[in-house]
Amino acid sequence: MDRPEWAPPDVDLNTPSAARVWDFFLDGAHNFAVDRQVAAEAIRFKPDLPELARAVRAFLRHSVRLMAHAGIDQFIDVGAGLPTVGNVHEVAARVNPQARVVYIDRDPVAVTHGKAMLAGNDRVAAIAGDIRDPAAFLKSPELSRLIDFDRPVGLLLCAVLHFVGDDADPAGCVATLVERMVPGSYLAIQHATHDAQSANTIQMLKYWNSQSPEPMTWRTRTEIAAFFHGFTLTEPGLVELTSWLPDEPAGADPARFASYAGIGRKNP
Ligand SMILES: C[S@@+](CC[C@H](N)C(=O)[O-])C[C@H]1O[C@@H](n2cnc3c(N)ncnc32)[C@H](O)[C@@H]1O
Repeated sequence: MDRPEWAPPDVDLNTPSAARVWDFFLDGAHNFAVDRQVAAEAIRFKPDLPELARAVRAFLRHSVRLMAHAGIDQFIDVGAGLPTVGNVHEVAARVNPQARVVYIDRDPVAVTHGKAMLAGNDRVAAIAGDIRDPAAFLKSPELSRLIDFDRPVGLLLCAVLHFVGDDADPAGCVATLVERMVPGSYLAIQHATHDAQSANTIQMLKYWNSQSPEPMTWRTRTEIAAFFHGFTLTEPGLVELTSWLPDEPAGADPARFASYAGIGRKNP
């Protein structure tokens, strides 16, 4: 296929990327044919994937509002994805126009577009980084310019930790990030789970992992809860993603979005 003018030169057009498949689910325009093919096949196994993506974004926006109303005015969004409607800096600025945000992603299309979209906004930055090596991006000059770790921070890890395999020590990666954060800081996590899932949904996971260089590791509620070590969960706790949605249809399966989500406040 022809390389779109927005695609960075080193991006492989023939390999699907989690960021661009997610962009497709969210009706974005920055995806390639290979992303759309894999997305369409995944949707055959789990038809509500686009709805799931919108539900994750709703949880993310809710988390930012909750944190901003609690006084948080600096946010780090790791695995931020492609810029999309209702981004963290827009939601935070509605509560506090002085809020600062750093978006981090390992996907070059996500980072390139983040930089382009944020050009001229000196309260926000998009930087390349991998959550499996948080010490590296914590040294970034752009992050140091915007984030003051002597004050509380809001850390957003939505739909990213399940891309970190057990061999990369996800708990250690989260610990490296949160140990920089002072008490009163916040952590929001959304994470996929195989708890209570249908055979079709598990087939979708197997299909994704057979096609993608970014395989997913789905975890149990207990495993996900461990990421909140040192934090007190806000109500309603670490619950199914559907429990955070105000308009769930009556009788809908609470486990239908195959994920748990929670928001914690760092203990003194
Ligand atoms: C499913 S999207 C979620 C995007 C956004 N957080 C949201 O909730 O809408 C997952 C994102 O995580 C990024 N990602 C995956 N593994 C990563 C890693 N090891 N380090 C940083 N970003 C990663 C992908 O590039 C992608 O943009």
